[in-house]
Amino acid sequence: MYDIIEQLEEKRAAARLGGGTKRIDAQHAKGKLTARERLELLLDPGTFEEWDMFVEHRCAEFGMADNKIPGDGVVTGYGMINGRLAFVFSQDFTVFGGALSEAHAEKICKVMDQAMKVGAPVIGLNDSGGARIQEGVASLGGYAEVFQRNALASGVIPQISLIMGPCAGGAVYSPAMTDFIFMVKDSSYMFVTGPEVVKTVTHEEVTSEELGGAGTHSTRSGVADLAFENDVEAILMLRRFFNYLPLNNRDKPSVRPGSDQRDRVDMSLDTLMPDNPNKPYDMKELILKVVDDGDFFELQPTFAANIVIGFARMEGATVGVVANNPMVLAGCLDIKSSIKAARFVRFCDAFNIPVITFVDVPGFLPGTAQEYGGIIKHGAKLLYAYAECTVPKVTVITRKAYGGAYDVMSSKHLRGDVNFAWPSAEIAVMGAKGAVEIIFRDYKGDPAKLAAREAEYKARFANPFVAGARGYIDDVIQPHETRKRICRSLAMLKDKKLENPWRKHGNIPL
Ligand code: HXC
Repeated sequence: MYDIIEQLEEKRAAARLGGGTKRIDAQHAKGKLTARERLELLLDPGTFEEWDMFVEHRCAEFGMADNKIPGDGVVTGYGMINGRLAFVFSQDFTVFGGALSEAHAEKICKVMDQAMKVGAPVIGLNDSGGARIQEGVASLGGYAEVFQRNALASGVIPQISLIMGPCAGGAVYSPAMTDFIFMVKDSSYMFVTGPEVVKTVTHEEVTSEELGGAGTHSTRSGVADLAFENDVEAILMLRRFFNYLPLNNRDKPSVRPGSDQRDRVDMSLDTLMPDNPNKPYDMKELILKVVDDGDFFELQPTFAANIVIGFARMEGATVGVVANNPMVLAGCLDIKSSIKAARFVRFCDAFNIPVITFVDVPGFLPGTAQEYGGIIKHGAKLLYAYAECTVPKVTVITRKAYGGAYDVMSSKHLRGDVNFAWPSAEIAVMGAKGAVEIIFRDYKGDPAKLAAREAEYKARFANPFVAGARGYIDDVIQPHETRKRICRSLAMLKDKKLENPWRKHGNIPL
């Protein structure tokens, strides 16, 4: 028995060594941790239960029959993150460049299947050269098996991807189907085809970093939700992020009681709004002053910054926050910001996370670039997302709520549960100047008359009381009481029940 136990330990040690010390050193030299070191950091100490350590590939082509490494380039299993269950896979770049074989894919599928059965999130640490070239179609089949599971798990359990090395070809599409993608700066990249193929096909010269680095995806494409400095920061932030998520779509929002009081007022909010309605102010300041302990986990801060999204807590329970940001494009909705916010609202809706919306929006961004880019369809995504959303929805209009954007931003008409306005709110079809120029076109050559009409329009509509008179606004509140009023609303909505009509699925304008 002792011999057998010894053999087991030897086998385990071989598997733990992955592609060997030389390749591990090379991984470290690039400033990257190994697959196992990453899991050690991600999971609570001593909680990792590894599966399939002895799995090997079945490929015999191109000299692979004698080239087998136990585990086959991915470490899989489950463990705890701050005491809560998570399933994990971590690709081992030291083994065939983390490339995905049929057996490697089967290991990932096994943890995904189990996660679905027990209702726990799946976290993938991706570091892979894509399809295992020696395996051909078996590897492509393996990818498709993973993709299928990504689709079925969507909206059932949270799926998070951390990109920690190259991700090319098939390796990008599984992360793309997960809920959140985090990248590591300078050492990770994602693209469908690499710089060399790009050069051959389009004659563009571009580096890997420019084509698909963390900077590109967190600012230009919006593929990544956040970019971190290194492996350690990325993993520690992922642990923090995980706390906000429920384990599955039947779970209640995660609760971590803090010290902040429901009734805390913040008098400085009464002076947040500038005198001039065209002057920007910092919407994030408002968010930080309203949520528990000034703690806001923002996503996509450098992409479509005209809208702000992220998670926070109110009385300990997770909420999703969506806010127009007057500091960028005056807070207008455009293609990118509509898509960004729509996807976030849908995540919150799928996972029972209440949505708080802060509104200061002058409308949709005009122009040919937007129209040719399909703002009609993309803007409709956000409209659709709010309209189908059944979780508690609390809205606060701080200033402008003009035109279609008023409707879109969690208005009463889209089943907003509680809709507040600050006294500074202006709820109208459009700004006074634009409105007067249209309805009093005849006064075009007479600025004095136009100005008088503009003042009249402003006095009539640039306030929250016209909407309030119709019940579209439940109350006009003091800015300093915003937190208290939202907390009370959320407490009232705790057991909200609302269902959409049965259907196979809706057809969101994609
Ligand atoms: C098998 C691979 C591999 C792959 C890398 N390796 N990619 N083995 N299949 N796809 C191996 C290398 O042979 C090498 O083995 C080790 O991993 C490390 O690779 P290096 O090239 O030395 O590392 P580096 O210089 O850091 O470059 C990493 C890389 C490069 C950028 C990922 O290896 C690369 O371009 N690989 C090919 C990427 C690719 O074209 N993949 C297929 C995509 S198509 P040794 O033994 O020397 O350590 C695809 C289709 C799926 O994925 C579609 C589904 C929808």
